[in-house]
Amino acid sequence: MIELTVNGATARVEVDPATPLLYVLRDDLNLLAAKFGCGLGQCGACTVLVDDRPVFSCLLPVGAIGDRAVTTVEGLGSAQAPGDVQQAFLQEQAGQCGYCIPGMIARAEGLLRRTITPTEEEMRAAMAPSLCRCGTHVRILRAVRRAAVARGGGVVDAAEPVA
Ligand code: FES
Repeated sequence: MIELTVNGATARVEVDPATPLLYVLRDDLNLLAAKFGCGLGQCGACTVLVDDRPVFSCLLPVGAIGDRAVTTVEGLGSAQAPGDVQQAFLQEQAGQCGYCIPGMIARAEGLLRRTITPTEEEMRAAMAPSLCRCGTHVRILRAVRRAAVARGGGVVDAAEPVA
């Protein structure tokens, strides 16, 4: 039995400790936002936060999490009440197929928990591990800039101002 804190609630799962966190989230906890893309830590579709840091949940064994808090996009808002990062992504129409977006939002949330005034370079570096095969990176970066402003900060030396 493994005990986890996910989105502020305690979850108990009967799984092998070597099971990737992604499988536990999706298959045992019915949290379907984080996606399986490559399974190799190369695409970012599975990104969630563990103690505020973005991680590839396809690579992280659930037994290695311990008492650290896991946050998925379901913990950041809902379709009915989207959180501020989700709202920024909606306002910028940052999703095309949408497969990468939960990972992108988790990654943006991780950045903004560290700083609400990242430089443009820091913001791009923070988002770089997540790939978007539709090519909406420009809109995604706009959404992160918008979310930083919404939190009372902003991207320093932003390549594009928030409209
Ligand atoms: Fe985890 Fe691609 S599915 S990085």
